Amino acid sequence: MNLTLKIWRQNNANDKGKMVDYKINDVSPDMSFLEMLDVLNNELITKGDTPVAFDHDCREGICGSCSLFINGRPHGPDRYITTCQLHMRSFNDGDTITIEPFRATAFPVIKDLIVDRSSFDKVQHAGGFISVNTSGNTIDANAIPVNKHDADDAFSAATCIGCGACVAACKNASAMLFVGAKVSQFALLPQGRIEATDRVLNMVKQMDEEGFGNCTNTGACEVECPKGISLENIARMNREYLSATVKK
Ligand code: SF4
Ligand code: FES
Repeated sequence: MNLTLKIWRQNNANDKGKMVDYKINDVSPDMSFLEMLDVLNNELITKGDTPVAFDHDCREGICGSCSLFINGRPHGPDRYITTCQLHMRSFNDGDTITIEPFRATAFPVIKDLIVDRSSFDKVQHAGGFISVNTSGNTIDANAIPVNKHDADDAFSAATCIGCGACVAACKNASAMLFVGAKVSQFALLPQGRIEATDRVLNMVKQMDEEGFGNCTNTGACEVECPKGISLENIARMNREYLSATVKK
């Protein structure tokens, strides 16, 4: 496949940035999207140009670092996958592919396609800890019974990898799907109830301080989430927040 890539280039956070066109030839349909960028970077380095900076780590859909906005969609055209799981067979010979960083005030661009998502870390830190006794003998796994549906929902919420696609997809740059997932994964379990009131209040406060927008129920976040995190988590977070506000 021969492709034209339109890639966002930006030297640093203060640089204005611009789209730059690149031609890349003989791309295998079996390459992953990031492997295709590796090939491009090898060519740029060989020519003495600066390679395109992009984030990646696990390259298997686990770490959430490969945050690219491809042809106007976070993680590209396919559903339920991250950018590193996207393959070039999803495109056609002769295509022009636009590649941008995730755009949100709370995700400032560091360089080219890399954004600073430490705002997500701060929201998680604000959530604090859960009270589990880890000293002494191993605790029987069945010592605290957990309803099967709650356990399943908590596990589903915990599959959020913090990639930020929900924020990038949202016209308001809202982080409520991410925060809803992080609140839910503990709120649904007895172990997470002890600090539940402070946790939801602190996480929502931090989310607002980081500059994320508000949710207006368009649902783009759920559609673009690579892990299929459900909007139900936002509803659960709102219920948790309301009840925590009343308790306080
Ligand atoms: S909710 Fe989905 S899109 Fe948002 S950070 Fe988590 S995994 Fe990524
Ligand atoms: S590089 Fe880890 S999820 Fe893509």
